[in-house]
Amino acid sequence: MNNKYKIFEISKDNFDKIIPLSDKYLGDLYLSKEELVQNGMRVIVVSDIRSKKIVGFISFGVGEAQKFLNESKIKSKSLMNSDIVYIGSIAVEKAHQAKGVGTWMLEEVVRKTNKLGLDTIMPAWLKKNDDVPAIYKAADRVFFKPLYQINDYWKERSIKESWLCIDCGTPCCCSAVIYSRKSF
Ligand SMILES: CC(C)(COP(=O)(O)OP(=O)(O)OC[C@H]1O[C@@H](n2cnc3c(N)ncnc32)[C@H](O)[C@@H]1OP(=O)(O)O)[C@@H](O)C(=O)NCCC(=O)NCCS
Repeated sequence: MNNKYKIFEISKDNFDKIIPLSDKYLGDLYLSKEELVQNGMRVIVVSDIRSKKIVGFISFGVGEAQKFLNESKIKSKSLMNSDIVYIGSIAVEKAHQAKGVGTWMLEEVVRKTNKLGLDTIMPAWLKKNDDVPAIYKAADRVFFKPLYQINDYWKERSIKESWLCIDCGTPCCCSAVIYSRKSF
């Protein structure tokens, strides 16, 4: 793993480098550099050492839960009043999937933030034709636990921002399972 890939955090000046991966695996216009910067997100990438290409990314932020999560979608009042580590998006290039890259990036977010003592929250995409999405398996490996499922999680946002979910276009009618990981 480590002699094939490199993992590192990129500066906001380089956020545009992950947009093609987001467009391809999450949907056109789902993410923009400007939005990531505005929301104070941080981005960790994995690159292929030989080709130097970025093959995966994960975005995350630290701050008040209300900043990241829509109150109507979150069932826990105590969570909404807390600071959290929030995982926004994760994607890995197809040719590099199932090689541990996604799990490695989740672990890296945990490694960088665990000392803060905050819960990490990730709305994980439930794909229509996927019995157990890879993201759930990766989350499980890094000791995330599923809390509950929310249908139409991204619907309003997809309409407002006109982005095209790769599964259902606009509006996005996908569900999310809210995953949480306690720091320890
Ligand atoms: C979800 C995603 C980031 C996982 O990245 P990854 O690098 O493939 O993850 P890993 O290699 O660490 O694999 C994690 C687990 O998923 C499994 N997995 C990965 N790709 C798979 C595939 N295509 N088919 C079946 N299982 C797969 C792995 O075997 C592993 O399971 P295990 O722990 O039981 O061995 C990647 O599949 C992806 O980019 N998917 C498209 C975008 C997406 O769905 N993002 C999630 C948004 S919340």
